[in-house]
Amino acid sequence: MSDKVKTIGVLTSGGDAPGMNAAVRAVVRSAIYHGMNVIGIKKGYNGLINGDMEQMSLRSVSEIIHKGGTVLYTARCEEFRYDEGIEKGKQSCLDNGIDGIVVIGGDGSFRGARDLSLKGIPCVGIPGTIDNDISSTEYTVGYDTAMNTAIDMIDKLRDTSQSHDRCSVVEVMGRHAGHIALNAGIACGATAILVEEVPYSMEEVAQRINNTMKTGKHHFIVVVSEGVGHVDEIAKEIEELTGVESRATVLGHVQRGGSPTVRDRVVASEMGCYAVGLLEKGIGNRVVAMQNGRITDFDILEALNMKKEFDHNLYKMAMEISI
Ligand code: F6P
Repeated sequence: MSDKVKTIGVLTSGGDAPGMNAAVRAVVRSAIYHGMNVIGIKKGYNGLINGDMEQMSLRSVSEIIHKGGTVLYTARCEEFRYDEGIEKGKQSCLDNGIDGIVVIGGDGSFRGARDLSLKGIPCVGIPGTIDNDISSTEYTVGYDTAMNTAIDMIDKLRDTSQSHDRCSVVEVMGRHAGHIALNAGIACGATAILVEEVPYSMEEVAQRINNTMKTGKHHFIVVVSEGVGHVDEIAKEIEELTGVESRATVLGHVQRGGSPTVRDRVVASEMGCYAVGLLEKGIGNRVVAMQNGRITDFDILEALNMKKEFDHNLYKMAMEISI
């Protein structure tokens, strides 16, 4: 163990994601295993600033691996966007004997981790968001569960849309990234998938539906990424252009909850242990990532400047088979 790092803090920040609890558990257990003390910081950086923290133990993370949400609570912290807030965070670490912090969250949370690292408190980020929109990593904790939840609900919509010969227009989350929409769209056999990354016209969408109708299909699913928006209007236009009765459904925050899948639990556990390994060596200003299926890490600034490509080949394939 490094001379410096005796106590680490762990917090969850930004939008919650299934699997965050599994990551918290791994951080706590791994740190204790390696002889460190762990403090749980509540409600993201707010808890750091306000001193809202609790001592963690092996048993305080029992019975949470299968739970959605985050036992540490989460929030987006406006104050931590400014130097004064970061200074308060640093002082709080000094006051509470926190030598390093594991931050579980998205890009916004990593900016705070970088700022705090630059002030001398080593921080390591773990990508936790359902959107899978963090450039440095192929995978973010929560993504698999969210997609499975979306599919579960779309399968239910399929039943009613089939009974009524309707078109179901479903909005899924993802902020400005179409990864959930693309994968959920493929997995539910959507006739069209609308994402911000691929230009589309309503005429094309109608054409796809009309062509499919000619081959004997009478009910349709159109998956829309939330950045595209306007699902009610899209449904209305589809009805006008095709004559197929259409209904819009926004899946919303239900995609953020639920028991994490095996994949989310395992990746969260791996990333949690990896993050502790870095802090144990006194290494901060890093984000944990998955590259080619393996866990690795990057400098936070480098990670924030990376660009994530949308999988256009997968999109093309989806269009090929949804005819
Ligand atoms: O980043 C996760 C996410 O659920 C996005 O998909 C969505 O755009 C956003 O958070 C919703 O944020 P809030 O919880 O503030 O409504």
